[in-house]
Amino acid sequence: MSEKVLVTYGTKNGSTAEIADFIASVLRDEGLEAEVRPPSEVTDVAPYGTVVIGGALYMGRWHRDARRFARQHRQELRERPVWLFSSGPLDPSASEREMPPVPSARRAQRRTEARDHVTFGGRLAAGAKGRMANAILDENRGGDFRDLPRIAEWTARVASEIKAPEGS
Ligand SMILES: Cc1cc2nc3c(=O)[nH]c(=O)nc-3n(C[C@H](O)[C@H](O)[C@H](O)COP(=O)(O)O)c2cc1C
Repeated sequence: MSEKVLVTYGTKNGSTAEIADFIASVLRDEGLEAEVRPPSEVTDVAPYGTVVIGGALYMGRWHRDARRFARQHRQELRERPVWLFSSGPLDPSASEREMPPVPSARRAQRRTEARDHVTFGGRLAAGAKGRMANAILDENRGGDFRDLPRIAEWTARVASEIKAPEGS
């Protein structure tokens, strides 16, 4: 099977896409071939040996594009190793403890038989779309809580599993 890793994501304001780019760059540093694509550009996962799917969290749900991707490709995803991540909390909580997947991400994990799910801190910055986003920003509750060392550490673990699958 192909060694190429697909990193795809559901985002509204771009920060989850940036996490996807960062994950791909860490995978490349680990010697793997990695491609970042929005779900709309992926019609088939057959060219990929491994898939990482990320989704921003909005109102307790995994982003729709990530949900849909996991649902539409579930058959093929079950045939290859899959890892999931969520990005959301606008405080340091995701760096301080393991945060379980929200129900829709858990459903995607079941559907795809994903190896693991992790929650990373999110980012909300000026210019974000939506009335609620701007209300949160007005209350000074935005910020960038993406923890790059933690993301790198998680990705390095994924890379080592890809390179030396369990049981091999
Ligand atoms: C309206 C709104 C609702 C949100 N709901 C949640 C939530 O339920 N859980 C969470 O952890 N973060 C929540 N967040 C924070 C976002 O997940 C965070 O800003 C994330 O990084 C956005 O990703 P994106 O830039 O890829 O869209 C919410 C943010 C907004 C603006």
